[in-house]
Amino acid sequence: MSDPLASLSTLLAPLFADLNGGSPADPTVRPSDRADAQINGALALAKQVGANPRDLAQQVVDSGLLTDVATDLEVAGPGFINVTFSSSFLEAELAVVAADERLGVAPAAELKTVVVDYSAPNVAKEMHVGHLRSTVIGDSLVRLHESVGHTVIRENHIGDWGRPFGMLIEHLLDLGEDVASDGLSQGDLDGFYKQANAKFNDSEEFQERARERVVLLQGGDEPTLVLWRRLVEMSNAYFNRVYTKLDVLLTDDDLAGESRYQPLMEGVYERLEASGLLHEDDGAMVVYPAGFKNRDGDPLPMIAKSQTGAFMYATSDLACVVDRVERLGADLMLYVIGSPQAQHLQMVFEVCAMAGWLQEPTEAVHVGFGNVLGEDRKMMRSRAGDSVKLADLLDEAVERAEAAIAEKNPDIGPDDRLVIANMVGIGALKYFDLSTERIKDYVFDWDRMLAFEGNTGPYLQYAHARICSIFRRADIGRASVRAAHIALDQPQERALAMRLLAYPSAIDNTLDSYSPHKLCTYVYELATDFSSFYQECPILKSDEPVRTSRLALADLTARVLEHSLGLLGITAPEQM
Ligand code: ARG
Repeated sequence: MSDPLASLSTLLAPLFADLNGGSPADPTVRPSDRADAQINGALALAKQVGANPRDLAQQVVDSGLLTDVATDLEVAGPGFINVTFSSSFLEAELAVVAADERLGVAPAAELKTVVVDYSAPNVAKEMHVGHLRSTVIGDSLVRLHESVGHTVIRENHIGDWGRPFGMLIEHLLDLGEDVASDGLSQGDLDGFYKQANAKFNDSEEFQERARERVVLLQGGDEPTLVLWRRLVEMSNAYFNRVYTKLDVLLTDDDLAGESRYQPLMEGVYERLEASGLLHEDDGAMVVYPAGFKNRDGDPLPMIAKSQTGAFMYATSDLACVVDRVERLGADLMLYVIGSPQAQHLQMVFEVCAMAGWLQEPTEAVHVGFGNVLGEDRKMMRSRAGDSVKLADLLDEAVERAEAAIAEKNPDIGPDDRLVIANMVGIGALKYFDLSTERIKDYVFDWDRMLAFEGNTGPYLQYAHARICSIFRRADIGRASVRAAHIALDQPQERALAMRLLAYPSAIDNTLDSYSPHKLCTYVYELATDFSSFYQECPILKSDEPVRTSRLALADLTARVLEHSLGLLGITAPEQM
């Protein structure tokens, strides 16, 4: 155990059980404003056993259990205990973390199979900033879950099926594959889609062809499937370019588009039928998920099959849940999708629960997020009024970062600069996205995102690079100080140590609510604690053994910075 609060809790557990007549009672150890920690459990326990809470708290203090751990124990208010940790205790905890490759981050108590549904752009349509958010948030959640030992399955639920593919395939044939391929794989997805759509609206002949083509596609006509696959491949080539630039984990192996669930829908529909949940509504076959009402207070239907006999987006999501639970053995499914789809997902989850496909302890969670806004606080658009092309956005981030680095550190050569600019530009973009509470909208702002001061990606990367440069300047290998004793004499050393020890809890809190911004806040606080330490406590100028102790503290800080940024999908360069 490395989190001092958790250690305290473990230490007190037997005593609390004793005081509770043998059954466990939570010592309830919490962070405190006045001291290092606060033990609150005496209050609840007193109520339970009918004792005076202050007396009980005094008993905990007098037990002597905390003699080595705390230099100061004070019963306060109605029966809290304020705890000030002894330096020797914190130093011992820190030694454990420094020797641990995982930096104190222990595997979760219960290991799960977690499916993360993220990114999910649509074939032959431009990825928009919403897909960027899904990709960045989803990727961080994948890394976070893996870091505590869960088995994570990434699924990129691309929109690769449905009626529009009739017109898209016909348009592909009209253009010829080469021309289409140039446009699509270069990322002119919007242009392609709009042209197809315009033809569909203008020409009856084209409409007719498109309709016939959908029938062929759905009927599994091989030449049609070949064309469809080409379309999917061309779009994927573009998506992959964006993923590579973004440095996310998604690969072709993670593709699990809507088309994959088409063959499964009939079976799922039959199971719905057998369960007696299907109702006819105006010619369509629907399920009424419990608790959903429309504006007039009537039950809200989830359409499983339309009047024309077609399965719907919702039906494919039902099949998708069944597949994840029954084939993949998912214990937890995270849907990283924008807030507008909240109701759709809640209805799908409820129908699955009613049908018995989604039962506790298996969980499906909508990890929703808000919009990216332009300066005008409206949905972000390019200057021409189109949706912003993600690939262009990423290039601009890197270009801007390169300019900033050239200005800050002209000694870095052009090749290194470009490598670092990629880390900084993309890191800035990701951090800006992840550091606001995900459910909120945010205003896209290049200057704020790329600032080297404040709660930004570059600031945190810079904190890391600064530590690396201390070692470089003194020509000391970082690993060489790793086993050194870290002494905590100054308040800034102590505060930094407390922060480092809180890293595992920061990850837990982040995972509890699937909120990367909580980890961002932690990393920022860590960087500012380091900054105060660096200002007040000379490192290289100090005499031994203080010098090595401080180097070791700096090294551990850099390791936690790099590791935590890594969980956000951000690389920490050694110089910038
Ligand atoms: N392709 C959809 C969109 O762009 C998102 C799909 C999300 N995943 C899902 N299982 N429905 O809006």
